[in-house]
Amino acid sequence: MSHRRVAILISGGGSNMLALVRSMTGAHPARPCLVLSNVRGAGGLARAAALGIPVACVDHRSFGADRAGFEAALNDALAPHAPDILCLAGFMRILTPVFTACWAGRMLNIHPSLLPKYPGLHTHARAIAAGDREAGCSVHEVTADLDAGPILGQARVPVLPGDTPESLAARVLEQEHRLYPAVLRRFAADDRRPVLLP
Ligand code: GAR
Repeated sequence: MSHRRVAILISGGGSNMLALVRSMTGAHPARPCLVLSNVRGAGGLARAAALGIPVACVDHRSFGADRAGFEAALNDALAPHAPDILCLAGFMRILTPVFTACWAGRMLNIHPSLLPKYPGLHTHARAIAAGDREAGCSVHEVTADLDAGPILGQARVPVLPGDTPESLAARVLEQEHRLYPAVLRRFAADDRRPVLLP
């Protein structure tokens, strides 16, 4: 059986990347082919390299406001690894419609809110400020509109009295590590039915 090839794009510690990598064994229809970061020294790069996964970095800062140049360099870094699927996992750059069109139907993202609530940043603080009783995370297909592509899975957690953005983020992150591998497994098998956890 030939496996689908998955490139994972990160900007930070890469805990979701690790959850994805660890899931892609045995009968899983996909395997990791590259971990790519836009941040030099991102913790996730060393963690991926320690697992024997090819890593690369395209530092967005060297491109200034030249988003097209940055994205062309991303594609140049991806090309030799021939990914079938891109997983954004804490990748904190907004992509242009040119790049999203290039990977349409083949690029996933995890976002720490119950979309369509709270696209963008500071999701946990916004959920707490709104008095929400429930929070969570979503995996969606990436389209030109930020955090707005078709939802492929969601996991829910309670918002507890006294929660801070940090305590809520930690509770949500645990579920991210369950949800993203579950969605990728289905997606890599061409099954786009949403995964609803728990
Ligand atoms: C995760 O909580 C992810 O949902 C979030 O960044 C964190 C990355 O953690 N992504 C976004 O906010 C995207 N807008 P990780 O590097 O440990 O996976």
